[in-house]
Amino acid sequence: MRPPPRTTARSAIQPFISRRAFGAVAGARYAFFMLGIGTVARMAKELRRDVAAARDRDPAARAVGPVELVATWPGIQALLAHRVAHALQAADVALIPRAIALVSRGFTGIEIHPAAKIGKGLFIDHGSGVVIGETAEIGDDVTLYQGVTLGGTGFATGKRHPTVQDNVTIGSGAKLLGPITIGHGAKIGANSVVITDVPPNSTVVGNPGHPVRVDGRRPEGPDADWIHLPDPIAEAIQGLASRIGALERAVAELSGEDAGPVAEVRPLRTVKGPNPAGG
Ligand SMILES: CC(C)(COP(=O)(O)OP(=O)(O)OC[C@H]1O[C@@H](n2cnc3c(N)ncnc32)[C@H](O)[C@@H]1OP(=O)(O)O)[C@@H](O)C(=O)NCCC(=O)NCCS
Repeated sequence: MRPPPRTTARSAIQPFISRRAFGAVAGARYAFFMLGIGTVARMAKELRRDVAAARDRDPAARAVGPVELVATWPGIQALLAHRVAHALQAADVALIPRAIALVSRGFTGIEIHPAAKIGKGLFIDHGSGVVIGETAEIGDDVTLYQGVTLGGTGFATGKRHPTVQDNVTIGSGAKLLGPITIGHGAKIGANSVVITDVPPNSTVVGNPGHPVRVDGRRPEGPDADWIHLPDPIAEAIQGLASRIGALERAVAELSGEDAGPVAEVRPLRTVKGPNPAGG
């Protein structure tokens, strides 16, 4: 009679490894089958452009080779994962796109919904804290710094995230909320909160975000200068006060009396403290 086979640590875990390895290979084959060769070739092209974007726009990446960039730049890894997840989502594959997005978020700190539409040459610098919502659309050659949110404003359904056109730069910590359009070539300042459309080729800063440059020039007119708004009531009071002063001087001259000091009109100042209209 043959002795029973000796149980080693390796033989004990062998079936488990085999099943997992088989599952992984089958999953990858299924995914590639669903994607098709054309889609995989397109993703490879997009990856090359993403790597080129990182080398163009990140001074720290200039001397780094493409393989090292793919292996160590979280922005590039998140985009690669998104491009696979997005293609699978478009092929109506269940679960896997979301699983890819979740794993990618764990590794890179960048959360991109698989349905978000992203153009060529996006560069996400550093990455951590970037959130790109389901209905967000990003054009070509856009740059995002860490902490950027392309989010919704509430519980609305349908198109509820921003559309970012080509060549836009969005500074770290900027929050762009709602179905707004960021015009091509615009720059959004770090930590801005943008809730309205942004004109092309403009620079928008602050909370709420407002344009401080349009086509390289300071915007003119009261609608664009949110700080120095005209105050028609103060202007009317000043006009009346100066006319009363002139009348007082004329009366004093006629009556031969001393006109006395002219009434002072103080410029209005911004009221500080709690909002009196608050509940
Ligand atoms: C918005 C930004 C792109 C502007 O660059 P720019 O076109 O060179 O414009 P300027 O520096 O001339 O600034 C224009 C005006 O906006 C103001 N401004 C610029 N950035 C601002 C910001 N983030 N918040 C508030 N005001 C800002 C400037 O003080 C200037 O004001 P002024 O008109 O009174 O002089 C840039 O300041 C910025 O925020 N970049 C993001 C960088 C980043 O996130 N880096 C992270 C690296 S890890």
